[in-house]
Amino acid sequence: MTLVTLAQVLQPALKQGHAVAGLVTLGWEDMRAYVAAAEAESVPVILQAGPSCREHTPLPVLGKMFRHLAENASVPVVAHLDHGYTAEECRIAIDSGFTSVMFDGSRKSLSENIAETAAIVEMAHAAGVSCEGEIGFVGYSGGEKSAGTDPAEAAQFERETNVDAMAISVGNVHLQQDKQGGLDEARIRAIEATTQGPLVIHGGSGVPLSQRSALARGSRICKFNVGTELRMAFGQALRDAVNNDPERFDRVQILKETHDPVVAAARRVLQGFKGA
Ligand code: 13P
Repeated sequence: MTLVTLAQVLQPALKQGHAVAGLVTLGWEDMRAYVAAAEAESVPVILQAGPSCREHTPLPVLGKMFRHLAENASVPVVAHLDHGYTAEECRIAIDSGFTSVMFDGSRKSLSENIAETAAIVEMAHAAGVSCEGEIGFVGYSGGEKSAGTDPAEAAQFERETNVDAMAISVGNVHLQQDKQGGLDEARIRAIEATTQGPLVIHGGSGVPLSQRSALARGSRICKFNVGTELRMAFGQALRDAVNNDPERFDRVQILKETHDPVVAAARRVLQGFKGA
């Protein structure tokens, strides 16, 4: 049984100078490949069910899938709700066996975000579950613009919510298919100076690999969320598998061929977050 909470993997990461990957899952094929990759690299992994995953598969089913994988894994596995937008969604995740929830109140005013996040942290902690919050909106490639995190607001948010991890907006953008740009390290250092706990970067796919590794080792960023980069690897593997044999129609036979390429892509991601 290696099911753990977010705090149980992020606190050691904070002390030892590495980061843990929050890998965005869409279904059984990718989540099982991510656990195989984590076992091959001997590192913990955070399986994340975000909004599009939940649109496809109900939370109680996802909770059972994550827990089954965790219970049979040789490394610590966190069952995490990504971008919960309401207290109700977080409550359902907790009831479904998730060990960590993220409440995203980053589109709300500071006072609303603090009040709602604090209430969800209390609910989560009472159930032995961790909670991640977000301060400063992280935008979307080709969509909503980011609103960078203010270090003083981050300090207030951390103090008044008691979150286990805090997602920040420092030049990161969700859904980037390339690694142009990179994170604003001066802003990260300013946030580190006013806060104490683990920091989280969403939109990890868009961060240059060298910066991802350097920050995993040399900053309080303890969790990088990575989705697009792995979805691209899965999509390519699926396309290749379908095209390999136009006669084939059994989807299990097709999906089997995605396993090894997705494990390889996930291993490359995990390698970048190891300590020195
Ligand atoms: P990317 O898909 O841009 O890697 O972002 C993942 C993420 O932040 C999920 O919350």
